[in-house]
Amino acid sequence: MTLVEEYLQIRKYSEQICEPLQTEDYVVQPIADVSPPKWHLGHTTWFFETFILKPFSVNYQLYNDEYNFVFNSYYETVGNRVIRTDRGNLSRPSVNEIYQYRAYVDEAMVKFLATTLTDEVKELLILGFNHEQQHQELLLTDIKYILGNNPLFPAYSKNQKEVLTVNEIEPGFINISEGIYEIGYNGADFSFDNELNRHKVYLHDFSISKTLVNNTEFIEFIRAGGYENFNFWHAEGWDWVKNNNISAPMYWHLIDGKWFNYTLAGVLPIDLTAPVSHVSYYEAYAFASWKGMRLPTEFEWEIAAEHFNWGERWEWTESAYLPYPGFSKAPGAIGEYNGKFMVSQKVLRGASIATPENHSRITYRNFFHPHLRWQYTGIRLVK
Ligand code: AVJ
Ligand code: FE
Repeated sequence: MTLVEEYLQIRKYSEQICEPLQTEDYVVQPIADVSPPKWHLGHTTWFFETFILKPFSVNYQLYNDEYNFVFNSYYETVGNRVIRTDRGNLSRPSVNEIYQYRAYVDEAMVKFLATTLTDEVKELLILGFNHEQQHQELLLTDIKYILGNNPLFPAYSKNQKEVLTVNEIEPGFINISEGIYEIGYNGADFSFDNELNRHKVYLHDFSISKTLVNNTEFIEFIRAGGYENFNFWHAEGWDWVKNNNISAPMYWHLIDGKWFNYTLAGVLPIDLTAPVSHVSYYEAYAFASWKGMRLPTEFEWEIAAEHFNWGERWEWTESAYLPYPGFSKAPGAIGEYNGKFMVSQKVLRGASIATPENHSRITYRNFFHPHLRWQYTGIRLVK
């Protein structure tokens, strides 16, 4: 595939994700972490405009010079922006205007991509692809949150699956021996800067589950009073449970003594064999301690992952999101992409059913604050 073809395919997929939406669904921001779908569509467009067209395409005219304020997410280098919690208060630019903005930038990009590109531009372009793919996952999970917190619980799409049924895998544990292992990206293709530098770590003997914790096991935890016993929880996790009245994963509803959950296909009875999803790091940790086990570190995960199936749920690890030895951030705005978030967050490994094809890899480091659970998160145990 040529770069232009790849560009157009990725751009189209973001719009396809939004096809089932009503106009009003594009606009709301029910919590600060969830961005309005139309904002994702504008922000990913702004990314190509700001980091490629504006600096490198001669005579490029910005679509609207006020959009920088609206669609800049967090780049201090690029100027002031609307505060995150106000993204849902923007009735303008309208959904239509944002689709026009996409078309305008796409046309300019296609023209620009037909010219000779420097390596610097090619790198930014590939970053732009990966950036839009990250937002495609966020789009779908944000849409789920918007619809799943509407009292009418509208389905996104009746045939949307949240489970991969193809891989029937037998349970069991894989044993990994103690020793020195290499961690981090080691290839010629794209990786994020946070996957570098490749470096050595020492691991002790451990056994890691081949399968993710499923809903049957999680219901056992609930029935055993897992949410009522402080012994299983970190202090911060226990405060989170109490302050937010948490008693089940996000999207779960107890109706007449039976568990249901909101899925992209609507409210359905809990699928007992599906991996548990929409749990916070606090819940993942509490479940593991109830089981007398623990979560893997991100290094254990990376070494063991070639021996098990992954990609269905983002897997919470025990690791803090920190720079690897030798990590360096790019100069300028692009240096703000990952590095400045390396505080107070946990690493998640793998991918989820919402991750676009070919976006993740075994060294990929996702990261979120420990209380967050609107992504397709899951639990893998280590003993
Ligand atoms: C890697 C998913 C935590 O949500 O901020 C989007 C992805 N980075 N735009 C985030 C991202 C820049 C990032 N996560
Ligand atoms: Fe972004």
